[in-house]
Amino acid sequence: SATQRGGPARHSLRCPTVNASNAIADARHRLGIDIGGTGMKAAIVDVSTGQLVSERARIATPTPATPSAMADVVVQLVSEHRWDGPVGVAFPAIVHNGVVRSAANIDASWLDVDADATFSAATGLAVHMVNDADAAGLAEMHWGAGRDRSGVVIMLTFGTGIGSGLFLDGVLVPNTELGHVELDGVDAEVRAAASARDRDDISWKLWATRVEHYLRHIELLFSPDLFILGGGVSKVAHKWVPRIDIATEVVVAELFNNAGIAGAALVAGRRR
Ligand code: BGC
Repeated sequence: SATQRGGPARHSLRCPTVNASNAIADARHRLGIDIGGTGMKAAIVDVSTGQLVSERARIATPTPATPSAMADVVVQLVSEHRWDGPVGVAFPAIVHNGVVRSAANIDASWLDVDADATFSAATGLAVHMVNDADAAGLAEMHWGAGRDRSGVVIMLTFGTGIGSGLFLDGVLVPNTELGHVELDGVDAEVRAAASARDRDDISWKLWATRVEHYLRHIELLFSPDLFILGGGVSKVAHKWVPRIDIATEVVVAELFNNAGIAGAALVAGRRR
């Protein structure tokens, strides 16, 4: 357990099923870390299949979620997996060449921080960070709802905010931030993120009308061939996705909670 291996007792972590010697020996394995507002999750991923080959470890996101506090958690996640290979990180902000450039739903102290340098220095490993929706989209395009799909594909994640991943013939255009288009005078994610449904205490039906309105707007701007709808609410897709009536084909993300981790693993070891 984490405690036996010297991890702090306040974190409940489960043991990875793959030990370091197996993991490092296999060049197909990478550590993927998915950072969210409440939790930081990590697993070893086989990037030839997208399968998690270890247990997922989860540590609560520190408060305040400053770069150094988060770096400490990344170090713990790495040691929990006894990992010493490349690490990929998915993060809920604009991440341009490893540098954080926005802070809509994260601690403002992240602005302009070189995340790759910070986490690489803390862990002694090669760490590369990308936007969380870009990571989830990469995973869906490789192994999930977008596999073998060409043309313009837009992945949208509905959570605290709305994240987006734009693909043309499978190639990512990073950091599109389509949750922040202005709709009815406000940031679209303020009305159509999953968090807005909780905040406004509205039905799935009413929330679905907001999402449909938003999708129609994105449809008008991009004429996509496919929307992939993801985020935590994709687990209860039956409550809202069938209500969405738009011209573009809509599919539900397939990798659920693992999309961020698996997508992060895909970018591990990438150079800027
Ligand atoms: C952020 C994006 C992020 C999305 C989902 C938005 O508020 O601006 O960078 O992808 O939330 O976490």
